[in-house]
Amino acid sequence: MAILTKPQISPSILSADFSRLGEQIAAVQDSGCKVLHLDVMDGCYVPNISFGPLVVEAVRRITTLELESHLMIMDPDKYIEAFVQAGSDIILVHPGTCPSVDDTLRKIHAQGVRAGLVINPDEDVNLVAPYLDQLDQVLVMSVYPGFGGQKFMPSVLEGIKQILPELEAHNILLEIDGGVNSRTIPMLSGLGIDRYVAGSAVFNNRASPAENYQALLEQIQ
Ligand code: DX5
Ligand code: ZN
Repeated sequence: MAILTKPQISPSILSADFSRLGEQIAAVQDSGCKVLHLDVMDGCYVPNISFGPLVVEAVRRITTLELESHLMIMDPDKYIEAFVQAGSDIILVHPGTCPSVDDTLRKIHAQGVRAGLVINPDEDVNLVAPYLDQLDQVLVMSVYPGFGGQKFMPSVLEGIKQILPELEAHNILLEIDGGVNSRTIPMLSGLGIDRYVAGSAVFNNRASPAENYQALLEQIQ
């Protein structure tokens, strides 16, 4: 484990039924879930548009869960304050979207919340190396950002193994995002990952969000 004693599932509401969002969030919260993953997409950094601070704020009103906002947007500095005001506890940004990664991390911390960097499948995990002293979290993408329900890319495992000792040494939480499900968790569960984002594996028509959440949790432990 990088830093948590027990690994966590962070359900991504991107795959939830937005007409029943309150109900679906309550279901995972009642199952013991501690954190929710909010995928913010601008149609510019990624080829898809999801939601902005308004939805984060609505989610904040109906849950006490920790909220991590994964910003897939250009120039995130402009919006950090809005996402923190909306109720985010953690702000995750892609280094390629920040004019100065240093400044962005400072701005996030100045707002009193935790900060993380996100590494895409085609990026070197060592991109985080200069910022280890400023990071609370590193999110490794195991799909190209933009859509839920994509196929897990095992090629990212090498980078995870490489970076984990550094993250442990700096007390930085390691998270993975993309294609996490009952078939791919066996490839991941021994590696020391703290937090697993799961969208379509939690919110789908095959079983209830609570049942899916429980099944994934058992698998990662
Ligand atoms: C992709 C998002 C992911 C996505 C995960 O850009 O960052 O968080 O919602 O969805 P699944 O778990 O379906 O791959
Ligand atoms: Zn995400």
